[in-house]
Amino acid sequence: MAPVLDMILGAVVVLSALLAAARGAFVPADSYFVLCGTAASATVGGRTFVGDATLPAKVLSAPQSAAANASSGSAANASSGEAALYHYARVFPAPSTYTFAIKRPGRHFVRLHFFPFRYQSGDLAADAKFTVSVQGVALIDRSYTPANGRATVREFSVNVAGGTLAIAFTPTGKVAFVNAIEVLSHPDDLFAGPAQTVSPLGQYTGLSTQALETIHRINMGSPKITPSNDTLWRTWLPDDTSLLNPSLAVHKDVSPKNLQRMAGLASPEAAPDMVYATATELNKKLMDSTISAQFNVTWRFQATPGWAYLLRLHFCDIVSKAANQFAFNVYVGGWSVLSNYEIANKDTFGALAVPLYKDFVLSDTDATGKITVSIGPSTEGNMDPDGLLNGLEILRMVGDTGSGGDPSRSRSKKIIAGIVAGSAVAGVTVVMAVALVVLRVRRRKKPEKKPSSTWAAFSASALGSGSRSRSFGKSNSGGARNNTVTLGQSAAGAGYRFPFAALQEATSGFDEGMVIGVGGFGKVYKGTLRDETRVAVKRGNRRSQQGLNEFRTEIELLSRLRHRHLVSLIGYCDERGEMILVYEYMARGTLRSHLYDSELPPLSWKQRLEASIGAARGLHYLHTGSNKAIIHRDVKSANILLDDSFMAKVADFGLSKTGPELDKTHVSTAVKGSFGYLDPEYFRRQMLTEKSDVYSFGVVLLEVLCARPVIDPTLPPETVNLAEWATKRLKNGELDSIVDQRIAGTIRPESLKKFADTAEKCLAEYGVERPAMGDVLWCLEYALQLQEASPDSSSTLKLPEASPGSSGTDNTQLVPGVASKYQRNQSTASDGTAATMSANLGDLDGMSMRRVFSKMIKSEEGR
Ligand SMILES: *[C@@H]1O[C@H](CO)[C@@H](O)[C@H](O)[C@H]1NC(C)=O
Ligand SMILES: *[C@@H]1O[C@H](CO)[C@@H](O)[C@H](O)[C@H]1NC(C)=O
Ligand SMILES: *[C@@H]1O[C@H](CO)[C@@H](O)[C@H](O)[C@H]1NC(C)=O
Ligand SMILES: *[C@@H]1O[C@H](CO)[C@@H](O)[C@H](O)[C@H]1NC(C)=O
Repeated sequence: MAPVLDMILGAVVVLSALLAAARGAFVPADSYFVLCGTAASATVGGRTFVGDATLPAKVLSAPQSAAANASSGSAANASSGEAALYHYARVFPAPSTYTFAIKRPGRHFVRLHFFPFRYQSGDLAADAKFTVSVQGVALIDRSYTPANGRATVREFSVNVAGGTLAIAFTPTGKVAFVNAIEVLSHPDDLFAGPAQTVSPLGQYTGLSTQALETIHRINMGSPKITPSNDTLWRTWLPDDTSLLNPSLAVHKDVSPKNLQRMAGLASPEAAPDMVYATATELNKKLMDSTISAQFNVTWRFQATPGWAYLLRLHFCDIVSKAANQFAFNVYVGGWSVLSNYEIANKDTFGALAVPLYKDFVLSDTDATGKITVSIGPSTEGNMDPDGLLNGLEILRMVGDTGSGGDPSRSRSKKIIAGIVAGSAVAGVTVVMAVALVVLRVRRRKKPEKKPSSTWAAFSASALGSGSRSRSFGKSNSGGARNNTVTLGQSAAGAGYRFPFAALQEATSGFDEGMVIGVGGFGKVYKGTLRDETRVAVKRGNRRSQQGLNEFRTEIELLSRLRHRHLVSLIGYCDERGEMILVYEYMARGTLRSHLYDSELPPLSWKQRLEASIGAARGLHYLHTGSNKAIIHRDVKSANILLDDSFMAKVADFGLSKTGPELDKTHVSTAVKGSFGYLDPEYFRRQMLTEKSDVYSFGVVLLEVLCARPVIDPTLPPETVNLAEWATKRLKNGELDSIVDQRIAGTIRPESLKKFADTAEKCLAEYGVERPAMGDVLWCLEYALQLQEASPDSSSTLKLPEASPGSSGTDNTQLVPGVASKYQRNQSTASDGTAATMSANLGDLDGMSMRRVFSKMIKSEEGR
C-alpha cells in the first residue's frame, strides 16, 4: 500500500553528492591563532599559532603585560597533543585587551587556552584570578582561576556586529593571563534555532543572538575527535565517563561513507562524520531477554547552576535496516522532550543515516548542577525497543549579544535553510538542481476556528465511552462494497469505529507477515474481517500531534468524500490511543509497482491509460467536487492504487489538509509532498493551488510513459530526474526514445503523442499554463480512444464532445465516445452515494512552516 512518504534514498544520495560538491569545505573568513607571551610560533593540529609579540602593536593593548615561560617541570606534559600551546603565557597585572579586525560580521568562536604554571616571577596557579569579556559581554564574569596542573580550553560562540572583536582581561586577583587565543568565523546558522524549551515545552527563538559557552561536547560511542578532525577545530570527547550505567548500553559504529548529509539538516559544520557514524545504543539484548525489562540509558554532566543551557542532541539512525523500525523517548533533566521519536522520519524523508540534531533549552531555574540526558524505549506496542544518541553538546547561555539591533529582527530574517546545488543549464552539462529548504510561511492571522461539525461529531463518537462502537463484521456484507459501506450517515458520520480486538483478529495480531506497506505514518497490514471482507489496516505508530493530525485529516476527508476513484475508508479505531484506519483492500497494490522496480509483468498501454484516467478522475473530483478545492499535495504513483480489475483509486489523504493544531506545535517538522514530484512554483511562491497536483500528476504520467523512477541516481546526471530528462527529450521530439520499450510496439502513435503532450502540459513551469485536472482527464480519454480506434475507422472516431466543464457524467465506466461531464459542485458523487459537498472542507490556508524539496533557484547564502 501507499506509504505516506516514499523513501527515496537514491534522491538523497544525489542530493548529498551535489551538496558536497557545491558546498565544499567551510573556509572561515576570519581566523586568528595566537600564542601569547612569546615571539615564537607553534603548529598544533593543523593550525599555526603565531606569537603575539610578532603581531601589530594595535592588537594588544596591555600597559604592563609580561611574557612568561614555564619553568622546567611545571610545563604541560608532552602527552597532551596541544602541549606546545602551554609553554608561554601573557600575564596581565592590569586590565588589558586583544583587538582583532573582523572581516565578516556574524558568529565567531573564541577559544581561550589556560594552563597555569610556575615562572620566573611567580606561580600562575596561585596568582591568577580574573574576568574576561568580549564585545562588552562578560564571558567569564565570576573571578576565575584556571584549574591547576592541566590545560583548560574555554570556547565561546559570540555574535560580532563587525569591525573588531575585543577580548578584555581584567584581573580581580594579582594577575590575569592567557596562553593562547583562537578567533574563528563559524556559520551563523550553527546556532540559529529554533530550539524547544524543556519545561514547560515551548519554542525558544532567541538563539541567534545568544553568546554561548561550550561546557560539554561529546561523541557518543567514541572515539575522541581532535581539532584536526573537525572542520571548526573542535574537540569531541567520548561518553565513557558520563554514561551512568555502561552495561545497559552498547556502542555502534558504521563507516562514515554510509552517512547521507541532507541540506537543511545537520551540515558537516554541525558535527563531523565521526560523530554521526558512532552512537551509544540501548542494549537490546537485555530487553529481549526479559520482556518486562524497561530501562533508560542516562548520561550525567556537571553544569554550574544558575545558568540556562542549550542542549544539542545529535541523531543519526545508523542501526536500522529500514525506516520505522523503532521509536524511543528522550528526556532532559527528567523531562520528556521527545516521545516515540523516530530518527528517520519526515525530516529525513524517511531516509536512514541522515545526520540531524535537535536543540533544547533548559532554563536557569531547572539546571541544578547536574544535567541528565536519558533515552528509553518507546511505550508503543508495535515498535522495537531501541534508541540511540550520536552526540551531545551542552552550551551555557552566557547572555544576549543582540549587537544593538532589534533582536527579533535578526531572529526572523534568518531562514534556517540549508541549500544549494548546481543548476540545470541548457546546453551545458546538466546537473540536477535540487534543494531542501525550510520555508517559513507566514502564519495567517485568523480567528481561532471552531472544529467543523463533522469533526465535532467524530470527536464525540471517538472520545465517547465506546457505546457507539458498531460491532465489526456486520458491515460490508455482500454487494458492491463501495455502495453498501455507507460510512456514517451524511456529514455526521465518520465510518465504523472498530474495536481494537476486531482488528487484531483481522490481522492475526498485527502479524509481520501481513505487512503490505510501511510508511511514515506506520505499517499497513492486510486483514480479513469476519465476513471475509478484505481490508487494509493502517496502524499509526505514535501518538504524536502530527500523526494525530494526519489521522484526523484522513478520517475527516475520506468520510465526506465518496468517489469510486478515491480509496474508501471503512472505519477507524482509536481505542487505547491507537490510530488505526481501515480501508478497502486494493488487491493489486500501487501503480508504481506495476511500472518498474518489481517482478510484475508490464501493464498494457490500455491498462496504463485506464489507470491514468481513473486517477485523474479521482483528482478532478477532489479539485472540483466540493465548493472549495481540496488539494491532495502528495500525488505520486505510489499513492495510486489498483483493485482486482486494475481500476485506479487515489489514496493517502494524510497531507491533504492540515488542522490548526498542527501549526501550533509541529510547524518545524511538517513536510509536504515527495521529492521528484514537487511543483517548482509551489516552492518558489509558497502558494499551493490545484495546479501543484497537476504538476505531480504530470510526473506520474511520465512514469507511466517511461516506466522508470522519478529519481534514479544510478543514471548519468542529466538523466537522474525523470521530469527534467523527459521534458527535454519531448521538446526535442525524441518521444520514441523515452517510451517504455517493453510495450512501445503496441502503442498507436496518435495515442502516444496525445498522452505525451498531456504530460508535457501538466509540467509547465507556471501553474497558469498547466491544464486543469478536467482538461487532463479529457485528453487522456481522447488518448484512450485514439488507441482503441481501429486503424481504418479513425475518421469515424468519436471524440469526447466538449471541453471540460460542460458535459458528461462521472459515474460511467470509460466508454469511448460517451461524453463526460465534469462539473463543479456536483451534488451526486459516484456510485450514487449521497455526498453533499457543501460542508466547508477548506482550511487549506492553515499552512505554516514547511519543508519542501524542489528545483532550486538561487542560494541566498553568501558563503
Ligand atoms: C624563559 O625566560 C627566561 C627569563 O625570562 C629566559 O632567560 C629564558 O631564555 C626563557 N626560555 C625560553 C625557552 O624562552
Ligand atoms: C607529567 O607526566 C608525569 C608522568 O608522565 C607526571 O608525573 C606529572 O605529574 C605530569 N605533569 C603534569 C604537569 O601533568
Ligand atoms: C583524524 O584524521 C586523520 C587524518 O587526518 C585520520 O588518520 C584519523 O583516523 C582521523 N581520526 C578520526 C577519529 O577520525
Ligand atoms: C526514564 O526516565 C524518565 C525521566 O527520568 C522517567 O520518567 C521514566 O520512567 C524512565 N523510564 C524507565 C523505564 O525507567
